[in-house]
Amino acid sequence: MHFGFRRFQRRDKKNDGQIKSIRQKLAGQSVVLVGLMGAGKTAIGKRLAAKLEIDFVDADTEIELAAGKSIEDIFAEHGEAYFRDGEKRVIARLLKERTQVLATGGGAFINDETRHSILQNALSIWLRADLDTLMQRVSRRSNRPLLQTDDPKAVMQKLIDERYPVYAEAHMVVQSRNVPHDVIVSEIVKELDKYLTAKQNKA
Ligand code: S3P
Repeated sequence: MHFGFRRFQRRDKKNDGQIKSIRQKLAGQSVVLVGLMGAGKTAIGKRLAAKLEIDFVDADTEIELAAGKSIEDIFAEHGEAYFRDGEKRVIARLLKERTQVLATGGGAFINDETRHSILQNALSIWLRADLDTLMQRVSRRSNRPLLQTDDPKAVMQKLIDERYPVYAEAHMVVQSRNVPHDVIVSEIVKELDKYLTAKQNKA
């Protein structure tokens, strides 16, 4: 019992050091999560931000706040092109803010301007997931305009085919799957540490 507790304390301290060092190495840059609908960007992003002790921001929520209406209403009343334009502007603004974990909507990184800006000014992590995992997760809610079709699975497969080569440009990739979110968060922290340390050693 006693030894177990001491071991726990030691591991916790090591973890604190790793988190602090990641924050220092980020030097003001944000961590941006990219990937398809259902990849877990928001759920995992919130936990990652808590772990890194930095703010969490959800780009879609910020777009809704700026527009004063939901994503569904923006699509329905103004169309996708209008939404994409707002998305681009909101993310450009968010990238200028201090270090944060930023969850982006699935289409954000596909926009050339947004992607270049994220690649230049932030650290991007692609949360990659397979079709079944994505479908299982998105079927819990019906708030995604792109999936309001007769065959959402076919749409998702098409998006995988079109977007995965683009998401692959992200700085890091972590496989999102059906394990507790904290497992994925730990893998992200490990990847971030590895990436930032290698970058520092190269400089
Ligand atoms: C979209 C993904 C959504 C939202 C909008 C369009 C996309 O965000 O931005 O419905 O093009 O993939 P999530 O990826 O957070 O679901």
